[in-house]
Amino acid sequence: MPPDHPSARICLNHIDVRRGAEIVLRDVAVDLKGRGLTALMGVSGIGKSTLLGVIAGLVKPTAGTRQVDGKVAMIFQDPRLLPWQSALDNAGFGLRAAGFSKDEARDKTRLLLERFGLRPADHGKRPSALSGGMRQRVAIARALAIDPGVLLMDEPFTGLDVSLRADLRQLARAIVEERNLTAILVTHDPVEAVMLCDRVMLLAGQPAYIAADVAISPRSGTMVEAYRAASALMRRLEVESGSIVRLA
Ligand SMILES: Nc1ncnc2c1ncn2[C@@H]1O[C@H](COP(=O)(O)OP(=O)(O)OP(=O)(O)O)[C@@H](O)[C@H]1O
Ligand SMILES: [Mg+2]
Repeated sequence: MPPDHPSARICLNHIDVRRGAEIVLRDVAVDLKGRGLTALMGVSGIGKSTLLGVIAGLVKPTAGTRQVDGKVAMIFQDPRLLPWQSALDNAGFGLRAAGFSKDEARDKTRLLLERFGLRPADHGKRPSALSGGMRQRVAIARALAIDPGVLLMDEPFTGLDVSLRADLRQLARAIVEERNLTAILVTHDPVEAVMLCDRVMLLAGQPAYIAADVAISPRSGTMVEAYRAASALMRRLEVESGSIVRLA
């Protein structure tokens, strides 16, 4: 049976974040619950990673309230693996931190690594002996091993080649459905958003706020549909935010 997280929820209200002298986020509200994948978009430097940091409890807001029900896991653009540990032990890192023994962590992560496309012969390899795609699969397994209810993905597919990106996108979507996750994907790519996500939130302004929040329905299956839907999405974001949308 896949794990079920009916209570996973992200609820932020009136969140302000100051970084150094600068106010980065102002009066941000987010309410996400139940299964679904939400894209978080906006120009570089606007505050997307900062907002994920607030949700994960890593960045302290200067004002507002944060309520997150369910364990939170994060996947970053850089897999951030420990170079001296095997793929298997890297995948079990979160479990070890939660108090599981080395053997228990290995038992729990073996199947997960296989499910995410790493053959048993690769489990003993260190990150330097793995390809970029394999390293990112290990990072995905490490995030999922702790059985999170909330999954935060910060541009996890950027920098991978096109076919690998397509594989890992499908994997991410399948995981969200199988595990009933409340998930956020930071992306600069409207095509990725319309193929994978149920909803798109746009950060804009200075300081940034949620300038648009639109539902995606249905998700695009083919590339032709996706390109059409992506251009419609951009128009909707511009109408809702009342400004020209820049994403990169
Ligand atoms: N650790 C930090 N200390 C001080 N300021 C920071 C820190 N991290 C980010 N900032 C600032 O906060 C603002 C938002 O940065 P953030 O990394 O959240 O943007 P982003 O939308 O994720 O950008 P990108 O698309 O390039 O990843 C930027 O002005 C940045 O300089
Ligand atoms: Mg970022």
